[in-house]
Amino acid sequence: MRGTNVPRMPAQWDGSVIPRLVAWYRQAGRDLPWRHQPTPYQVVVSELMLQQTTVATALVRYPHFLQVFPDFGTLAAASEDEVVAEWAGLGYYQRARHLSRLARQVSAHGLPSGETGWQALPGVGPYTAAAIVAFAEGGRALAIDVNVRRVLARMLALPGGRGLDRAIRQAVAPRLPMNSGELNQALIELGALICRPSRPDCASCPVATACAGRHQPQAYGRALQRPPVQEVAVHLVAVRRAGRLLVRQRTTRLLEGLWGLPEVAGGKDGLPPGVEGRAIPDPPLRFTHAFTHRRWRVRLSVVDGDGVGRWIDPLSPDVALAGPDRRAVGKLVAGGYLDG
Ligand code: ADE
Repeated sequence: MRGTNVPRMPAQWDGSVIPRLVAWYRQAGRDLPWRHQPTPYQVVVSELMLQQTTVATALVRYPHFLQVFPDFGTLAAASEDEVVAEWAGLGYYQRARHLSRLARQVSAHGLPSGETGWQALPGVGPYTAAAIVAFAEGGRALAIDVNVRRVLARMLALPGGRGLDRAIRQAVAPRLPMNSGELNQALIELGALICRPSRPDCASCPVATACAGRHQPQAYGRALQRPPVQEVAVHLVAVRRAGRLLVRQRTTRLLEGLWGLPEVAGGKDGLPPGVEGRAIPDPPLRFTHAFTHRRWRVRLSVVDGDGVGRWIDPLSPDVALAGPDRRAVGKLVAGGYLDG
């Protein structure tokens, strides 16, 4: 989608904005663990996590991840599957695989530096590279994620659409301080607390007087239209035997490497090969599971039987289950479908 019809106004990014923003951040910003003089490793982990999950979830998962894998060395020494298992529930497991490969490259060749150096590593895009430079290297960089993009598009009254990031960089780059860490955190914070996507709180904004978009904030920097969420019907079959459940490692890109219940092709009675007996309950359980760009409409049946795979204790699975499978097992346990 091209930008809106809002006219392009002259960029306003005078030098006084930065100290005001940073002063506000020091006083009003949240005390988050990844903001305590992070190492490059800590920025990589926290920023990859925050690209997929909320701050509330990252507050729980980030310290745990660091406990299990405190640095690039421990991460590099672990198998990809172990890293994916620790990432379980955070979605988009390809990121965990990239993280594992990135750690191996750093362990073998040492830390890169600068945005270009970091971007050469697996899974590191322009945003993450700029965040590492600004937060861990004390360098000069602007990390533009969806929130920073919105804040700056409003401040500079820039329309959305293609070319927005370039226009933002052109306006901001000349004034970017040599050590840009706090400015970047301040922009992230302003986007999270005040300059929110809907109902921005302009009355509390520390830089409202320098904001060219304050009279019509919603008009600027509108996101490109997302592709519609794709709905997929999935039939999961819980095969039970002596209190255990059959699981298999998933191979599709979306959930690669995670474990799940056998999935069967449609058809009312479609059951995995080798499985006999009547599916319960009748009608089967149903739930939906949302991924970022996809939604599964899950139909879940239980059968007694046999099959090739791994047999897990549903109360304490010793494999990393994919999100929908974790929910399915939870429903089966809660509903008493695995008793007896
Ligand atoms: N979202 C992305 N990066 C973040 C950060 N450094 N702090 C808080 N929220 C974020």
